Amino acid sequence: TGDTTLDVGFANTASCQSAITFIDGDAGILRYRGYPIEQLAENSSFLEVSYLVLFGELPTRDQLDAFSSDIAKHHLLDERMREMFRSLPRKSHPMPVLSAGLNALSTFAYSKWGEGAYDLDRATKVLLGSLPTLAAYGYKNSVGEPFLYPERQLSYIENFLRMSFGLPTHPYPFDDAITRALDVLLILHADHEQNCSTSTVRMVGSSGANIYVSVAAGVSALSGPLHGGANQAVLEMLQGIRAEGGDVTSYVNKVKDRKDTTKLMGFGHRIYKNYDPRAAIVKKHADQILRTHGGNDELLDLALKLEEVALSDSYFQERKLYPNVDFYTGLIYQAMGFPQNMFTVLFALGRLPGWIAHFREQASDPATKINRPRQIYVGETERSYVPMEQRG
Ligand code: CMC
Repeated sequence: TGDTTLDVGFANTASCQSAITFIDGDAGILRYRGYPIEQLAENSSFLEVSYLVLFGELPTRDQLDAFSSDIAKHHLLDERMREMFRSLPRKSHPMPVLSAGLNALSTFAYSKWGEGAYDLDRATKVLLGSLPTLAAYGYKNSVGEPFLYPERQLSYIENFLRMSFGLPTHPYPFDDAITRALDVLLILHADHEQNCSTSTVRMVGSSGANIYVSVAAGVSALSGPLHGGANQAVLEMLQGIRAEGGDVTSYVNKVKDRKDTTKLMGFGHRIYKNYDPRAAIVKKHADQILRTHGGNDELLDLALKLEEVALSDSYFQERKLYPNVDFYTGLIYQAMGFPQNMFTVLFALGRLPGWIAHFREQASDPATKINRPRQIYVGETERSYVPMEQRG
């Protein structure tokens, strides 16, 4: 119709201009605000990277200290939020629980519903401070353990690990290698330009909806197995292969047959037509953590073999399908002690600065309009109403 062009899945349509993240999918390059992901993963911390993603520059020591302590003030949730978590079934998947938690948070943090102007700097800190607590409470509810209050003097990552795995009566035994590995994994997830969940946050925000409910919508988008949910799906795939005798070649053949919808989870990407640079970093850490912390070596070996078989197969070569960030992350999260249904929650924790940065960038861009894609109508042409007794 007219000048409307069909672009299924927005594979080729830029919806905005953005200065946050650069990706060259053919070369396998990812940079936040110009800094290569490899350098950030090696040298930085998650809150430092969050600051960079949000405000465009690496923070000075003073800036980072102030940012971290402002965020830590918001780890503590309103007491009523705890009751909300307790009222949800234990078997709930933690992603809808997290999304519900964010919607509930909006009712505490942003009571002036419908008013356009509010303090985005404060909301940024409230969100970054609250999400680890929301995530940990979702987990605690699912295992039936008591909720822990946050401890402000701990680092962002330590506080989250303690709130997830600690018990009120026991000191939490921190392990520096685990803390650092989680820090790095969150850095790797901090932003990825216009992916499905970030576009969702922008889409919802473009209507003038507040940042809390926009981010809650982003969590819902992330939960799907083609997006963040892939990290859980990869582990389920590996377990399935192991249960059937560990034959990776026959699994790859099943994917290639395409008789059903079986995919090689953790492989392929809309933008990367080369090795996902995040996957390369995760692979290195998976090897270190699993070999030293008694993780599931057997599943890691299966994953390594699966990667090798797929990468040497013409089906995957012709389609330029490489491991993506989700291929190895689940193995590390499992070695840290997280159950499979928490993996995507960890992705959300990492992606939060990106969602907020995009919301803010959109809110401050004078060119912003409500997002409203077009369609190509393929339905019936006009026809007359048929009374009920004349139908069928
Ligand atoms: N296994 C088998 N075949 C695949 C896979 C896969 N994982 N991914 C793509 N293909 C095939 C696809 O069937 C198509 O073949 P053909 O051209 O013959 O019909 C071709 O490769 C191109 O794929 P596409 O589906 O058009 O690619 P897309 O850009 O629409 O989808 C994707 C990207 C990530 C959704 C897809 O690769 C996929 O489903 N991968 C598995 C799920 C996954 O790992 N998702 C995580 C993505 S990375 C980070 C994140 O967002 O969480």
